[in-house]
Amino acid sequence: MKLVPFVFLAAAAAVAAPAPVSKAVAVLNPLGASGVSGTVTFTPVEGGLKVTARIKGLTEGAHGFHIHEFGDCSAPDGTSAGGHFNPTGDPHAGPKDAQRHTGDMGNVVAGADGTATLEYVDHRAAFEGQNAVLGRGVIVHEKADDLKSQPTGDAGGRVACGVVGVVKAD
Ligand code: CU
Ligand code: ZN
Repeated sequence: MKLVPFVFLAAAAAVAAPAPVSKAVAVLNPLGASGVSGTVTFTPVEGGLKVTARIKGLTEGAHGFHIHEFGDCSAPDGTSAGGHFNPTGDPHAGPKDAQRHTGDMGNVVAGADGTATLEYVDHRAAFEGQNAVLGRGVIVHEKADDLKSQPTGDAGGRVACGVVGVVKAD
């Protein structure tokens, strides 16, 4: 039986290092009866991650949009996702502010048809290191994020939740 661990080690050594993550997605599902759903993709670009959001079922207007600490959407009200992802201990702000939660992605703005699209480059979020967003939660809120009220931007309840997961490379 002494051979078993030896064989196991040899097999492990033969496995190549995993390829770097080239894309991630959070599939947003409705919380409660909100009817809000969508996708948020994250793609590495020069200087950060490109964030592309397509969300539907919203009430018209701005809705707070954040990465939260935990990739756990199990609670009916989304509170299992925890607070804003904030590994640096900064105050709540907007995505363009120097001091901000890493999870502060600002707002998505829905038109009269209830759909919102957003595309921007986030200069703090990353796939590796302290600000790594893989496995964290993405939350869409009932109300607008004012980008200044602490600690959440006064964005109200949570209407959709998803977990940032690795996407198959193109
Ligand atoms: Cu939030
Ligand atoms: Zn925040």
